[in-house]
Amino acid sequence: MIDVHCHLNFKSFIDDYDDVIREAIEAGITHIINVGTKIESSKKAIDLALKYDNLYAIVGIHPHHADKLELETNWLEQLNDLATKPKVIAIGEIGLDYFPYKSNGIVDKILQKEVFEKQIEIAFKYRLPLQIHNRHASNDILEILNYYKTSLQPIPGMFHCFSGNKDFLTKVLDLGFYIGFDGNITYDGIAPGETTMLSDLVKNAPLDRILLETDSPYLSPEPHRGSRNKPCYAILIAEFIAKLKGISLEMVKNQTIKNTHILFNLK
Ligand code: NI
Repeated sequence: MIDVHCHLNFKSFIDDYDDVIREAIEAGITHIINVGTKIESSKKAIDLALKYDNLYAIVGIHPHHADKLELETNWLEQLNDLATKPKVIAIGEIGLDYFPYKSNGIVDKILQKEVFEKQIEIAFKYRLPLQIHNRHASNDILEILNYYKTSLQPIPGMFHCFSGNKDFLTKVLDLGFYIGFDGNITYDGIAPGETTMLSDLVKNAPLDRILLETDSPYLSPEPHRGSRNKPCYAILIAEFIAKLKGISLEMVKNQTIKNTHILFNLK
């Protein structure tokens, strides 16, 4: 199995990432992809990838940080540089987030769009796939992707922690995107502001477009909900997908590995 989106580069793993990586490898995780959310965490993702054979990095600015970029001098220049480093396999997590968070509300939408678009252009420049973060912003993301449609690569990227409705799913599949599912597919009910059960989206997504991801340290699958998530729990997500689709765990494991290699051109 491969965890295509986690954050061992974040503070919550600072004391024990070696152990967490070892545990994941013992549990059958063959590759771990750490994702940056700003310049600093993107650099850390690269540092980790250089330390371990089976780790890779995705670099980018999360929409939450779109209004804090004045703190990062020359962020565009820096991100351009990071995109060319060895073991960097995509630009992410980038996108739009319109969920009203208690801590920082909604970051200015115009700023979010600007930062997203500039990073899409970096991905085009280096022919890297996109790893997209979308929360309650499906329409605006589609509008931006359609604007860039003729420049998108044949396999343009993936949606991380997929949510939305079936119509949105159909549209992003039509554009060629892959779909990442996380531990929240094991949660009961529909998340606030959403209209469709994640399990329905899993059932509707073709297996040859699905990727496994944990978003560690967040979104632990049941029965670990509420505690720190880790890449070895990808197995629980794979089991849940197998059950929802009525297929074997082996099929989910094999196909998601194949999908990851195709999307990220992994060796
Ligand atoms: Ni994430």
